[in-house]
Amino acid sequence: MLLETETRRLWQLDQDHVLHPYTNFERFSREGSTIYMRGDRHFIYDSEGREYLDGIAGLWCVNVGHGREELAECMAEQARQLAYYNTFEDASSAPAALLAGKLSELCPGTLRHVFYGTGGSMANDTAVKIIHYYNNLRGRPNKKLIISRNLAYHGSTYLAHALTGIRPGHIAFDLPPNLVHYVSAPYAYRRPSEIAAEKFCDFLIDELERKIVELDAANVAAFIAEPILGAGGVIVPPEGYQQRSWELCKAHDILYISDEVVTAFGRLGAMIASDTVYGVQPDVLVLAKGISSGYVPLGATMISDEIYAVISQPKKENPYFSHGFTYSGHALACAVGLKNIEIMEREDLCGNVRRLGPWFGEELATLTELPIVGEVRGSMYMQCVEYVADKQTKQPFADQVTIAKRIGAHCKRRGLIVRPIGSFTVLSPPLTYDQAAIDRSMAILRESILATMADLKSEGLWA
Ligand SMILES: Cc1ncc(COP(=O)(O)O)c(C=O)c1O
Repeated sequence: MLLETETRRLWQLDQDHVLHPYTNFERFSREGSTIYMRGDRHFIYDSEGREYLDGIAGLWCVNVGHGREELAECMAEQARQLAYYNTFEDASSAPAALLAGKLSELCPGTLRHVFYGTGGSMANDTAVKIIHYYNNLRGRPNKKLIISRNLAYHGSTYLAHALTGIRPGHIAFDLPPNLVHYVSAPYAYRRPSEIAAEKFCDFLIDELERKIVELDAANVAAFIAEPILGAGGVIVPPEGYQQRSWELCKAHDILYISDEVVTAFGRLGAMIASDTVYGVQPDVLVLAKGISSGYVPLGATMISDEIYAVISQPKKENPYFSHGFTYSGHALACAVGLKNIEIMEREDLCGNVRRLGPWFGEELATLTELPIVGEVRGSMYMQCVEYVADKQTKQPFADQVTIAKRIGAHCKRRGLIVRPIGSFTVLSPPLTYDQAAIDRSMAILRESILATMADLKSEGLWA
């Protein structure tokens, strides 16, 4: 087929050949995708030159903003010198070593050892594999089960998908059975009606303890938790939950994996949130996304001195730590990670988030006056609006209404990209988002919710 414009050609090639992640193929076959060509700080431009505010930092990851010349230079320079060499046993590179040193400075407690990968799913897989290996070496071969939570998101490889507690997404994928067990999401807005808000944290901690007893702590290796659940709907646990669940794990000799793929590197106003914001000292800390601001694929699994001491002991049967990837410690990726952290520190992007984040949250909270906004929740630069058909009963809209997608489409037409998930609009902008960007996003989102309400009324989908 002869296509008229370059945009049309790209669109067609993409539609014909790219298998997109988390995609509704029916919608995709009708509408295809927008091709984005260029970014500049918190703005992004499509193939027709249209400008959008990037309200989601690519996918919660472009923390320092788009189009950073300094990062492009760093990549070019590292590529000229040495883009890649393996890091298996007797080889390494300067960026891999330097970034490891920097991460061990930033991470709390004894999290001084890093295993590199290329993203969050791989980093979570690595966390579980290392913990299993550790327990085998400690002579605890039964201590393998993982406790996760409903609505948690930990990735999409076989293992990371099993850790993920968004259950509808499990359908028709044969994930490893009986390895991961789930407890309730710490979702106060949709807690069981008989539980008072001030008792919800006790309820969650009791439930976690009952789950540990049911499975027997001798069989449970780890509890995995995002400090704030991201893709599950920016679920902010009740006060004290993170620390109490961590203490419970410690009391039962269960390791605590903190998945900070989204929350680390400034999104909550701190480089690492587990300890600074929540008083938790994880045994394993999982990093990706903001570690390189998405400029290159990079992930990291940080492990404690205690775990390292066991896994690094000499072994007779197999002296090798048999886990690794071609791109573990990729020189160019690590150089970008290091430069990215340098930019964040130099520009005090965490400080920017701490200054503007509370105000961003307050501005968003004003949307609760609208009849279809059930709750606005989040922290700093990680925010979410949940929609309901009935505010009194918290009845959600039927799935077919695709409420958040409709609102997202209105936002996009007006020049703001948000992330629609189920009944939620997620906002997780680059950390460069300033007052003007917040003001404009707020105005567009409000207008888009009102426009969607009018559409629903005229289509007879909402009274
Ligand atoms: C908390 C969390 N963990 C893990 C992942 C998986 O990361 P990746 O998509 O880089 O594999 C994500 C991705 O969104 C995430 O939000």
